[in-house]
Amino acid sequence: MTTRRLTDRLGGLAFGGDYNPEQWGPEVWKEDDELMGRARVNLATVGVFSWALLEPEEGRYDFGWLDGHLDRLHAAGVAVDLATPTASPPPWFTLAHPDAMPVTPEGTRLTHGSRDTYCVAAPAYRLAARRIAGALAERYGDHPALALWHVHNEYVTLCHCDHTAAAFRVWLRARHGSLDALNDSWGTAFWSQHYTSWEQVLPPRATQWHQNPGLLVDFRRFWSDETLAAYREQRDAIRAHSDRPVTTNLMLPGYQNLDLWAFGREVDLVTVDHYPTEPGVGAAADTAFGADRARSFGGGAPWLLMEQGTNTVYAKGRVLAKEPGEILRHTLGHIARGSEGALFFQWRQSRAGAEQWHSAMVPHAGPDSRIFREVEAVGEAVARLGELAGSTVRARAAVLHDSDAWWAMDVDGLPSTELDYHATLSRAHRVLWDAGVTVDFAHPEQDLSDYRLVLAPALLLLSDAGAANLRRYVEGGGTLLVQHTAGAVDERMHARLGGYPAAPLREALGVRVEEYRPLREDEHIALSDGSRATAWSESLRTEGAQTVAAYTHGMLADGPALTRHRFGAGQAWYLSTRLDDTGYAALAARLIAESGVVPELPGLPAGVEAVTRHASDGRRWHVLINHRAEAVPLPESAHDLLTGAQANELAPGGCAVLRAH
Ligand code: GAL
Repeated sequence: MTTRRLTDRLGGLAFGGDYNPEQWGPEVWKEDDELMGRARVNLATVGVFSWALLEPEEGRYDFGWLDGHLDRLHAAGVAVDLATPTASPPPWFTLAHPDAMPVTPEGTRLTHGSRDTYCVAAPAYRLAARRIAGALAERYGDHPALALWHVHNEYVTLCHCDHTAAAFRVWLRARHGSLDALNDSWGTAFWSQHYTSWEQVLPPRATQWHQNPGLLVDFRRFWSDETLAAYREQRDAIRAHSDRPVTTNLMLPGYQNLDLWAFGREVDLVTVDHYPTEPGVGAAADTAFGADRARSFGGGAPWLLMEQGTNTVYAKGRVLAKEPGEILRHTLGHIARGSEGALFFQWRQSRAGAEQWHSAMVPHAGPDSRIFREVEAVGEAVARLGELAGSTVRARAAVLHDSDAWWAMDVDGLPSTELDYHATLSRAHRVLWDAGVTVDFAHPEQDLSDYRLVLAPALLLLSDAGAANLRRYVEGGGTLLVQHTAGAVDERMHARLGGYPAAPLREALGVRVEEYRPLREDEHIALSDGSRATAWSESLRTEGAQTVAAYTHGMLADGPALTRHRFGAGQAWYLSTRLDDTGYAALAARLIAESGVVPELPGLPAGVEAVTRHASDGRRWHVLINHRAEAVPLPESAHDLLTGAQANELAPGGCAVLRAH
């Protein structure tokens, strides 16, 4: 089942948002129908947090109210993305099953009164979730309004309870086979952690001092697998009654409780939520980052932006307005990168409840407002892009992304607290985004041969298979940039011995790293090519590689900082420090030029985003977003779907979707 079916059913790209009619009454519902028509809404996500209304007491369902809304939406020409409500169990559930409430590492058992309060490993929760998913599917599986199933909402809760402990042990037995193997893997000889029975093994509850890194990373892997199993159960309960595609909306890029590559294989189409946490061009870059990730998790297939805001959610503790035109720019930023439309949280701003100040398509002020007028304009724009449905994006550059590597960088006791996976990954993406290059994310163990350029900015943990794969990639003609700390530990969190990084990669790089030397806070160092660096340095020697830039002071003076090695048909670069923005951009420009990655629409200045969507029959569209404050002439005039006319230039902050010749 593919997203093609969704857009076929909708007759174009999706536009709409979370719709919570249970917070309102008939007068408002009538206005909703009218306003949804005006805003060209064609998809509404219904029922996300409706468990207490759908199942007011255990086993007794009340679907009458939902019947009415689905029929009404259908009559108004709005299709439904029907959610299972399992992200927010009702109070009766808590009281009946206190053991299914999550427990923090400190041992506090949480209770209802918010949302996301459940333990995914608790049998009572799993049963209740399967039951309500099945009941909804039985009732609505072939409802004419139904276009998509939305399992849960942002699986995010972690738990440390006894159910979790029991399930963790089952998972560990399957992974390690024996307690001896587990002891060896976790290095329990250190600090007297040797386990003599499985019952002694616990989730990472609060401890006096650093926790065992092997345990921490295994726990994250386990939790992701457990959550995926919970997702699959609901999905399968739905599939027994319905042939509509099933998805779950994945969390924002900054959260990493799940292996999103694994989720990407189990959903019928990837859907994500995205809320930039900074204003301006940073938000646009972050939009591209989130969208490129979403596309990559689904192997390049079309995907869908399930939630965005009409303002930023929290930028350093403040809900900031989006500038006029920014909602359209963000919407097109996602669509450019393969989204089959754009949905929002939420349709109508709540007048009460925990998120009454979160933005919406219809704000508290009502339709006579700047925000609703912009929403109408964006709805109109999206409605004009129907011919893009099903087309995909082709990238020739990739940034490597692996949940294991993220979790490895989350443990305590690393040589520097400045090692930040998410920040490092988004910086690598940003440097390519600034250069106008379209980027995929790729897993270190996947076939990389389609990419001319691959960046490995944050692979502290690199498996043997990953290291061999990267070597193969370079040998086969690829250009690879590996950044500091890569390949320092294997999949068990064991340090690589005899020099970093992992041996097969070391050979490809032609270097051997002997010692890590984090820099002092605010320490800047100069490299021999004039660039400046911060945060980190390494003592390494070349073993075949050429030194491109050397350190110039201190113990490392004259030692290699940036190296390059021709290996097989390709070249492998190693950057042992953190370059400042100018230096990093210059390095990226050189790698882009040498690897032959070309912008998709040459002739545009910096600050104009351009991504091409390709249909299988050869048609192409360039989606252009001007982040500059002045008008920009187009390299050649073309038909702009947004206006239905020829376009010759982009207005300041303006956008165009051009049919390519
Ligand atoms: C999302 C969530 C929505 C809503 C939104 C707030 O992450 O899925 O339910 O809370 O944030 O803007």
